[in-house]
Amino acid sequence: MHSRRQAFATLAALFASTTSAQNDEAYASGALGPGPYTTFVSSPATPPLWNHVLPINETIKSQLMSGLVFIGPRGTDTHQAAPYIYNQTGELVWDGGVDGYTQTMAYSVQEYQNKPVLAIWQGQFNAGGYGFGYNLLLNQSYQVVGNVTTDLAGLAADIHEFQITANDTALLSAYNTTSMDLTPYGGPAEGYILDGLFQEVDIASGKGLFTWKSLDHVDPAECYVNPGNTGTDALAWDYFHINSVEKDFRGNYLISSRHCHAAYYIDGANGEILWRLGGKNSTFTGAGSEFYFQHDVRFHSSNNSQISIFDNGATSWETSEATARGLLINLDYSNLTATLATEAIPLYNLTVAKSQGNVQIQENGNMMIGWGQMPWLGEHNPAGTPLWAAQFGVGDVQAYRAHRTVWRGYPNTMPSLAIANGSSVGYASWNGATEVATYELLGSNDASAVVSLSNTSAVGRFETNFTIPSTTRYSYYQVRALDAGSEPLGYSEFVSSTNGTTAQPAASQTPAVGAANATTASSSMGTAMATDPASTGRPASSSSKVAGSMWAVIALVATASWQLQ
Ligand SMILES: *[C@@H]1O[C@H](CO)[C@@H](O)[C@H](O)[C@H]1NC(C)=O
Ligand SMILES: *[C@@H]1O[C@H](CO)[C@@H](O)[C@H](O)[C@H]1NC(C)=O
Ligand SMILES: *[C@@H]1O[C@H](CO)[C@@H](O)[C@H](O)[C@H]1NC(C)=O
Ligand SMILES: *[C@@H]1O[C@H](CO)[C@@H](O)[C@H](O)[C@H]1NC(C)=O
Ligand SMILES: *[C@@H]1O[C@H](CO)[C@@H](O)[C@H](O)[C@H]1NC(C)=O
Ligand SMILES: *[C@@H]1O[C@H](CO)[C@@H](O)[C@H](O)[C@H]1NC(C)=O
Ligand SMILES: *[C@@H]1O[C@H](CO)[C@@H](O)[C@H](O)[C@H]1NC(C)=O
Ligand SMILES: *[C@@H]1O[C@H](CO)[C@@H](O)[C@H](O)[C@H]1NC(C)=O
Ligand SMILES: *[C@@H]1O[C@H](CO)[C@@H](O)[C@H](O)[C@H]1NC(C)=O
Ligand SMILES: *[C@@H]1O[C@H](CO)[C@@H](O)[C@H](O)[C@H]1NC(C)=O
Ligand SMILES: *[C@@H]1O[C@H](CO)[C@@H](O)[C@H](O)[C@H]1NC(C)=O
Ligand SMILES: *[C@@H]1O[C@H](CO)[C@@H](O)[C@H](O)[C@H]1NC(C)=O
Repeated sequence: MHSRRQAFATLAALFASTTSAQNDEAYASGALGPGPYTTFVSSPATPPLWNHVLPINETIKSQLMSGLVFIGPRGTDTHQAAPYIYNQTGELVWDGGVDGYTQTMAYSVQEYQNKPVLAIWQGQFNAGGYGFGYNLLLNQSYQVVGNVTTDLAGLAADIHEFQITANDTALLSAYNTTSMDLTPYGGPAEGYILDGLFQEVDIASGKGLFTWKSLDHVDPAECYVNPGNTGTDALAWDYFHINSVEKDFRGNYLISSRHCHAAYYIDGANGEILWRLGGKNSTFTGAGSEFYFQHDVRFHSSNNSQISIFDNGATSWETSEATARGLLINLDYSNLTATLATEAIPLYNLTVAKSQGNVQIQENGNMMIGWGQMPWLGEHNPAGTPLWAAQFGVGDVQAYRAHRTVWRGYPNTMPSLAIANGSSVGYASWNGATEVATYELLGSNDASAVVSLSNTSAVGRFETNFTIPSTTRYSYYQVRALDAGSEPLGYSEFVSSTNGTTAQPAASQTPAVGAANATTASSSMGTAMATDPASTGRPASSSSKVAGSMWAVIALVATASWQLQ
């Protein structure tokens, strides 16, 4: 947890309490620094600031699916590498750094036990471009409900892949250094090579169900990257570089090998390679469907007849194409042809993405693309035309993948309220809460009662500011977060407007909807609510609905709970 409280910094002032810039020249030129970020008064969140180079206008808006944007910015110019959730307009929704998460790679919304979960890779990076770690599953209250790694001795889940199957199993990548005579490939006789593995793991038990190792099936001669100065124990030769895995309706696997420039379709029963797409020995012919150093190979359509690929076009030491591309390729299994269906070209200066990147095909056919090492993301229509594009840095800022997914968050924390000493402005936010429509300001002079002072819309912004009425000053203030139906979602602490002291709300005030059970208010005008996020993902209707109204006394606060910290 970060305990620091950021000052109201220049950027926040510049962009007037928003986390996004619109086609801002100063941003694009680097005048705001290589990794601009935003700060808030009520939260220690420091999300990378976006610059919508191709803004979302009303026409475009109607062509977009709903859903929030999931990226894990990283790189030396990133102020706080962490998983983040943003609005499509670049407005912060959740800063995972505030909740203690650090640099992530595989990061997405998945479904586990029929409920949406946030899957976040955490762990150690290896200089060779892979990692050893684990994947945390967070439910809609941002509480850990799963923690998955491989069950292979000495190996842990790599950075590149984490997918949950319909059977609540996980697909993980792993890298294993093993000794091998590399002289046939131009390396040392007593050499070391990286075996590219994936494993399907039962999430609940952690037991490995299926393990596949590239060295059992793919000869290093089939790939494109020579040992060079690698092949040592300290830096093994990464001949294969597995970076995506998925399982299809037949129970077979589709994997991506960056260094073989190929996708492999693998028999789920025995691990045999059923076909190859791309590389030196492609099963498919088809000029124009080539790709190089790719990421994120995925099937589309019910019969596997379409495949999406993020074509990097380069790695750090070699450039194969003019630009990175998002690709959709049609596969014809009758005559074994591969045909380019759609290509999406990045809006940033035509160039490659030397690492990372992904293509997510939306239900309406739009392509959500994260440009990997280039700090850009955005969507293209099914024909490949850009709909919107934003940069989230100009220097060494990167993100492994970018997704748009529907997500509702009901954090198991309290909303935050900040009032500078003696100030007439208050600020409220609630990291990860997606359903707050209004912050109702409550004032209290003593332990007996709170008074409703105002309602301020919270829609479309992470932090909401409001005036503290000067006509009557209260010793303490509190905010109550209300959803679009005026149902209470949670209460902040009481905050002194003169000395920053806080006090906990009464036990009778439901602190957060994440604590799924309703509690009963001490007064007949209380604020009890029933919640059932488990079944519906939404709070259920309250047992005693209280619509916020100006200056109305709405709830009694139990004296016993006034324990100043
Ligand atoms: C909206 O954005 C799209 C994509 O950039 C552009 O083609 C279109 O002209 C814009 N429409 C308006 C009204 O600005
Ligand atoms: C998850 O498991 C890893 C071991 O694989 C452990 O180091 C880590 O502390 C666990 N984290 C949580 C939140 O359970
Ligand atoms: C990893 O490599 C070591 C050294 O060759 C070997 O003993 C071990 O069995 C390998 N692990 C797996 C899971 O293949
Ligand atoms: C789920 O399990 C069933 C029964 O074992 C199997 O037939 C099916 O292929 C599995 N599906 C996935 C996606 O793993
Ligand atoms: C090429 O692929 C075919 C199967 O499609 C396989 O039988 C053959 O061994 C491969 N050749 C090489 C050189 O890897
Ligand atoms: C392969 O078959 C499809 C129809 O099934 C056809 O459209 C395509 O032109 C064929 N490709 C070649 C190279 O023959
Ligand atoms: C595009 O290239 C121009 C000229 O080299 C440069 O000034 C500009 O910063 C580049 N823009 C981006 C987004 O990289
Ligand atoms: C995201 O932006 C849309 C408008 O683009 C707005 O309607 C919505 O409330 C915003 N959501 C959040 C959580 O800020
Ligand atoms: C909230 O902040 C915005 C942007 O700085 C400002 O325009 C507005 O007046 C503020 N509202 C209040 C009540 O302070
Ligand atoms: C801080 O302000 C509160 C509310 O006005 C007051 O009750 C409390 O005594 C003050 N504490 C200090 C240390 O001044
Ligand atoms: C939640 O509600 C159920 C049913 O009313 C009750 O049995 C349970 O003890 C409650 N749990 C908590 C933590 O209050
Ligand atoms: C999240 O998990 C925690 C711990 O198991 C549970 O108490 C809470 O109700 C869950 N929240 C949701 C929204 O499922």
